[in-house]
Amino acid sequence: MSNIQELTFPRSGNAQALDIAKIREEFPILQLQVRGNPLVYLDNAATTQKPLAVLDRIQRYYREENANIHRGVHYLSEVATRHYEEARVNIARFLGARHSHELIFVRGCTEGINLVASSWGKQNIKAGDEIILSALEHHSNIVPWQILAEEKGAIIKVIPINDAGELLIDEYEKLLSERTKLVSVLHVSNALGTVNPVKQIIDLAHAYGAKVLIDGAQSTPHFPVDVQELDCDFFVFSGHKIYGPTGIGILYGKEELLLAAPPYQGGGDMISRVSWEGSSWNVLPYKFEAGTPHIEGSIALTEAIRWFSEIGLEQIAAHEGALLERATEAVADIPGLRLVGTARNKASVLSFVLEGIHPNDIGALLDANGIAIRTGHHCAQPLMDRLNIAATARASFAVYNTEEDVDVFAAGLRRVQSILG
Ligand SMILES: Cc1ncc(COP(=O)(O)O)c(C=O)c1O
Repeated sequence: MSNIQELTFPRSGNAQALDIAKIREEFPILQLQVRGNPLVYLDNAATTQKPLAVLDRIQRYYREENANIHRGVHYLSEVATRHYEEARVNIARFLGARHSHELIFVRGCTEGINLVASSWGKQNIKAGDEIILSALEHHSNIVPWQILAEEKGAIIKVIPINDAGELLIDEYEKLLSERTKLVSVLHVSNALGTVNPVKQIIDLAHAYGAKVLIDGAQSTPHFPVDVQELDCDFFVFSGHKIYGPTGIGILYGKEELLLAAPPYQGGGDMISRVSWEGSSWNVLPYKFEAGTPHIEGSIALTEAIRWFSEIGLEQIAAHEGALLERATEAVADIPGLRLVGTARNKASVLSFVLEGIHPNDIGALLDANGIAIRTGHHCAQPLMDRLNIAATARASFAVYNTEEDVDVFAAGLRRVQSILG
C-alpha cells in the first residue's frame, strides 16, 4: 500500500531518567479521587490505563476519519483503510515480524488463541497427538486446547513448576516426543510474574518438529519482543494491556502456517468470491478477518505502542523492576504475609496471601482507601490447585506507578493485617 507512514520503535527511549510525574499527567484517570483518596491503580496486569495520545487518537478517528474500510471509493473510506493498514505495518515492525500480512487483528489473546485452535489446530491435530501447556497458563490458553483435544482425541500434557513458580525445563524435555504437535505457553505469568525462558522452550519444541504458540499478554507491556528472534510460530497479545483500547489484539503467525490454515470465521472481507456453488478465500491477512474489524482500535493501538516506545521499553522495564523490588521489600515483614511466586526472573507482579485473611477482604479494604489491586484465581485455577490455594491478592505495576504508590499500598496492607489478622 502506498503512502504508509512507517514508525520505528526503538528499544531504548531518550536514556534519561523517566519523569513519572510528567507521564502521569498524560493519564486523566490517574487524577481521580476514589472514596476520598487519590487513586492508586495497581491492577495493571488486568488492564492498563490509557494516555491522552490514545484517547485523542480515538476521538480524531471518529471526528475526522470514520468510514468502513476496504472497497470504499470515497475519501473517508480511503483514509480509514490507509490508517488501518498502516497500523498493521507498524505493529508488525514493533513485533519484528517479517511480513505485515503475518499479523491478524483479533479481539485479544483469547480470540487469537481460539483462532489458532479452530483453524490450524483443527487441520493439524489428530487423535493421539500431544499438546504441551504449562502449569502457569491462563484459562484462555487452556480451554481452547481442551475443546480441541476432546474433539480430536488428542492429549494435553503439562509442564510442571517448582514452588517458586518456575517451569521445570528438565521435565518439559521429558514430555517432548514425535507425538508433540504443539507447545503453547505464556511468556510471563499474570498470576505470579514468572518470566519463562521461551526461546529455550521454542528451540526444544522445534527439535521435535512441534509448533509453538507464545501468549505475550504479559510480556509485551514490559519488555521488547521480536518474533523472528524467538522463532515462535504463533504469538498473541492484547492491546488493552499495553495502554491501548480494549477489544483489539494481535495474532502473529508464520506466513506458511497461516497460508495453509483454513478460515476461522466466514463473512464479508474474508472471501475472494462467493457463489451458491461455493466460496473461495481472500489472501492473507484478510482470510482471517471476517466482517467489519475494530478499525479505531487498531489505529489507537499503534498510537499506544508509539507512545510507550518513545519512553523506551527498556526504561519502562527498569522502572517497573525497581517498583517490584521496593514492593517486595516493603511487604516482607508484614506478619503472616507469604509471597506467591518467587521466581528469579519476574516482571511487574506481586502476588501474595495473608494468613487467615481472604484475598477478597484484602482487596475490599484496600479499595476503601482508593487502592486498586486484583484478588482471586487470576483465571489460572489449575495453577491455584497446584499451589494449594484458592486465590491470591495481586498488585501489578505499570510505567505510571510511583514509589509513593508502592508505599501507600504497603501501608494499606499493614492496616489490613492489623484489622483482620
Ligand atoms: C497471560 C494471559 N493470557 C491471556 C489473557 C487473556 O487476555 P484477553 O482477556 O485480553 O484476551 C490474559 C489476561 O489477563 C493474560 O494475563
